[in-house]
Amino acid sequence: MNELDSIVDSARQAFSGAATPAELENAKALFVGKSGRITELMKGMAALSVDEKKTRGAAINLAKQAIEAALNARRQALADEELQVQLKAESLDVTLPGRKREPGGLHPVSLTMERIELIFASMGFDVADGPEIESDWHSFTSLNNPPNHPARSMQDTFYVDINGDDGIPYNLRPHTSPMQVRYAHAHIKKYAGRDMPEIRVIAPGRTYRVDSDATHSPMFHQCEGLWLGENVSFKDLKVVFTDFCRTFFESDDLALRFRPSFFPFTEPSAEIDIQFQSGPLAGRWLEVAGSGQVHPAVVRNMGLDPEKYIGFAFGMGPDRLTMLRYGVNDLRLYFDGDVRFLSQFR
Ligand code: PHE
Repeated sequence: MNELDSIVDSARQAFSGAATPAELENAKALFVGKSGRITELMKGMAALSVDEKKTRGAAINLAKQAIEAALNARRQALADEELQVQLKAESLDVTLPGRKREPGGLHPVSLTMERIELIFASMGFDVADGPEIESDWHSFTSLNNPPNHPARSMQDTFYVDINGDDGIPYNLRPHTSPMQVRYAHAHIKKYAGRDMPEIRVIAPGRTYRVDSDATHSPMFHQCEGLWLGENVSFKDLKVVFTDFCRTFFESDDLALRFRPSFFPFTEPSAEIDIQFQSGPLAGRWLEVAGSGQVHPAVVRNMGLDPEKYIGFAFGMGPDRLTMLRYGVNDLRLYFDGDVRFLSQFR
């Protein structure tokens, strides 16, 4: 093999041994770079005669062309390899099914709240909203539950790091009952100087207590009810609440029991139990609300004369009602946000 052929040959070998474009460019420099072997041969022609230059030059050029052809082929091969690797890494499976947008729906407790509002609205009740961060006076004192009264410990509360005018910290309301006094005040103000209609309102919303297990959550829901007028009796409470429960559960033979109890803000007081006559819960008494005749001290704190105004209040648990209506056995499911649970209520 002559010198030129052997240079071409070793260039081909060096190029095919280059695994990356950078290695290939280094190999190229050895042959056709500024001080590459072909370049050196060209420089060496200066001393030759004109005829020798012609033949020698043509031969070197052929070798150079062969080297450049090999170089370009290898460049193309490396670029192809790189493209294949990239295509593989970014591959898309166009046969995968697309992502569907499922229709949304209301949370089961929201469905219950809507249902409660609808039923009570049909009985002439207003629906009111109130603050979750509440003053001590509204949560307790106005409800005939003064500081240091032992009944407060039944509602062990979350306190907020803000003091009220009385120097007592605000609390996350442990029940919706503060809305009784708040709504009465707003009602009186609204009808100032005019004939004041009876107070008939429900107040649904979030409430907070130090409680956490399968049937209690530190954040839960309540719905307060208040009917106050000149001639509203315990009989009206029984009628209204029985009517509500039978409509809510779509069951005409649902039984109700008013079991004597104690709340500082009602006298007399009763827990309300219900009993299904059929279905999986048939025969069991299930507690759904606290209730009673509004205590005269509370009527006075509303700014009304307890000799003139009388009525009842109740507080029920929409979370509990939702569990009973749909057969949910663990309250915590409401707050997990698991679509397998939630989508069943769509
Ligand atoms: N606030 C009471 C509770 O949370 C329920 C209740 C409301 C009782 C209204 C009587 C009247 O337990």
